[in-house]
Amino acid sequence: MLEAWREHPRVGHRETNGNPPGTSRQVSKIRFADRPHEKNQQKEPTMSERLIIFDTTLRDGEQSPGISLDPAEKLEIAEQLGRLGVDYIEAGFPVSSDGDFEAVQTIARVVGVNGGPVIAGLSRTHLADVDRCWEALRDADRGRIHVFISTSPQHMEHMLKMNQAQVIAETRSGVARAREHTADVEFSPQDATRTPLDFMLEVLRAAVEAGATTLNIPDTVGYGIPWDFGALIQHIRREVAGDYIISTHCHNDLGLATANSLAGVQAGARQVEVCVNGIGERAGNAALEEVVMAVKIRPDQFPGIEVGVATEELAKTSRLVSRLTGYPIQYNKAVVGKNAFAHESGIHQHGVLAERSTYEIIDAATVGQVGSQIVLGKHSGRHAFRDSLAKMGLHLQGDALNTSFLRFKDLADRKVQITEADLEAIVAEELGIDLVEGWALDALEVTGGTVGVPRARVVLIRSGAKVDAEAEGNGMIDAVFQSIRRACGIEASLAGFTVSAVTPGMDALGDVVVQLESEGVKVSGRGVSTDVVEAAARAYLNAVNRLGRFRSRRADAEPEIGP
Ligand code: KIV
Ligand code: ZN
Repeated sequence: MLEAWREHPRVGHRETNGNPPGTSRQVSKIRFADRPHEKNQQKEPTMSERLIIFDTTLRDGEQSPGISLDPAEKLEIAEQLGRLGVDYIEAGFPVSSDGDFEAVQTIARVVGVNGGPVIAGLSRTHLADVDRCWEALRDADRGRIHVFISTSPQHMEHMLKMNQAQVIAETRSGVARAREHTADVEFSPQDATRTPLDFMLEVLRAAVEAGATTLNIPDTVGYGIPWDFGALIQHIRREVAGDYIISTHCHNDLGLATANSLAGVQAGARQVEVCVNGIGERAGNAALEEVVMAVKIRPDQFPGIEVGVATEELAKTSRLVSRLTGYPIQYNKAVVGKNAFAHESGIHQHGVLAERSTYEIIDAATVGQVGSQIVLGKHSGRHAFRDSLAKMGLHLQGDALNTSFLRFKDLADRKVQITEADLEAIVAEELGIDLVEGWALDALEVTGGTVGVPRARVVLIRSGAKVDAEAEGNGMIDAVFQSIRRACGIEASLAGFTVSAVTPGMDALGDVVVQLESEGVKVSGRGVSTDVVEAAARAYLNAVNRLGRFRSRRADAEPEIGP
């Protein structure tokens, strides 16, 4: 099938146009309109072309069930995405809530300046949404409005209740309004892969006429198959005249998001929309680390395509996103999983010891997957602690610094070697606690074992006041959860519970993720400690606090954006 693609005529004419709309970066663009005679002419790339990495971890990724990031957590991730070197950060959907608006605005002001990535915001076609989106973005050096509307019969009939003429009119007015604010406008026909082709082409032409500079083709429900999706991209390039970059946005319902994105790139897409760790609605989006490494490792398949990501930052970015979202990284996850560079069988170990390339196609160091060094010990002071964090790209101040330092000292009493991974874990947890005004753990006492009924007593603090409660349970951890529920007066069911170790060794930090469900809302919380029962208590409290914050924000209207 790939051979078939190669035999397809390459259409269009690539040229580097200097500054893409609203940006100062050099990227290549597809231009047909003014050179119709060049249609169907075969041209091999002669110069390198930038593949734009459009990260949507903070928008589509944040739509994953149970993920609800605070503006400051979003900023933390955006800063790391900036260090990773993505071209665009889609920071949120500003009209969806005041919290999202605030997050996009802060990211625009802090990360989207001084040569940072372009900051994008999502918007429906409603003029008021577009204006609100721009309001959030306007302080960035470079901002993009991403306008979308559904185009599939399923969405038009059941969600939009619009006919084709209305969808085309909405497309024109939304995109035109966005162009009044910025020259960098992306348009997406939502559920493109289930949209009748002729209608989609009509909508895309309307978007280009109204001023869209990027056409993004979302495989919203993960329905695409690589060769078919690639052919779709190629067909659009051939049939929609104009000056635009074509982009992919692939969901992973059939496990094909990365493959579909790469097929899109082979067919001429020059932007990929991706999420760190592949998070996102349902089965998630194409994983940033997979798409980037595939293009880097196989230049023979992507000739002349250049990606501007600092791959050594991939593992750290992945860990940060995992900690702040509460979504664990599966052990065998490509590129960033714990086992991505582990060799179990004797034959493999022998091979890799003799020569790494026998069983590894990626050098672990190039993606930041090297054993973390010991950075601090029991006698390290506050300065050394802060310096080490700064070297890791974590800048803490005020209460967050103080509480993290106390956690570090406490850990240093229990664990001899403190690694970067340990520091990242405690700081991420403290940041989470600090950002969510709520309950903190003051003391915990548990009894359990095979004799007698497990019991727990907790003392919690909120706004300086202490509350304590006791409970029995089905085990020590259950008893802790019951006592916390009693102390906080919260009703929620446990929807998920995982424990893992941050580093190897008997004194490793236990890393617990708890998922709570209440009134149809799912949230995750994370806690770390050398004692897994304490880690579980911290994780549970973290989730309780997020639930509290979610409820207090519920008053904000949240528009439906579909699957
Ligand atoms: O999956 C999707 O269709 C989306 C759009 C809003 C681009 O996320
Ligand atoms: Zn999506």
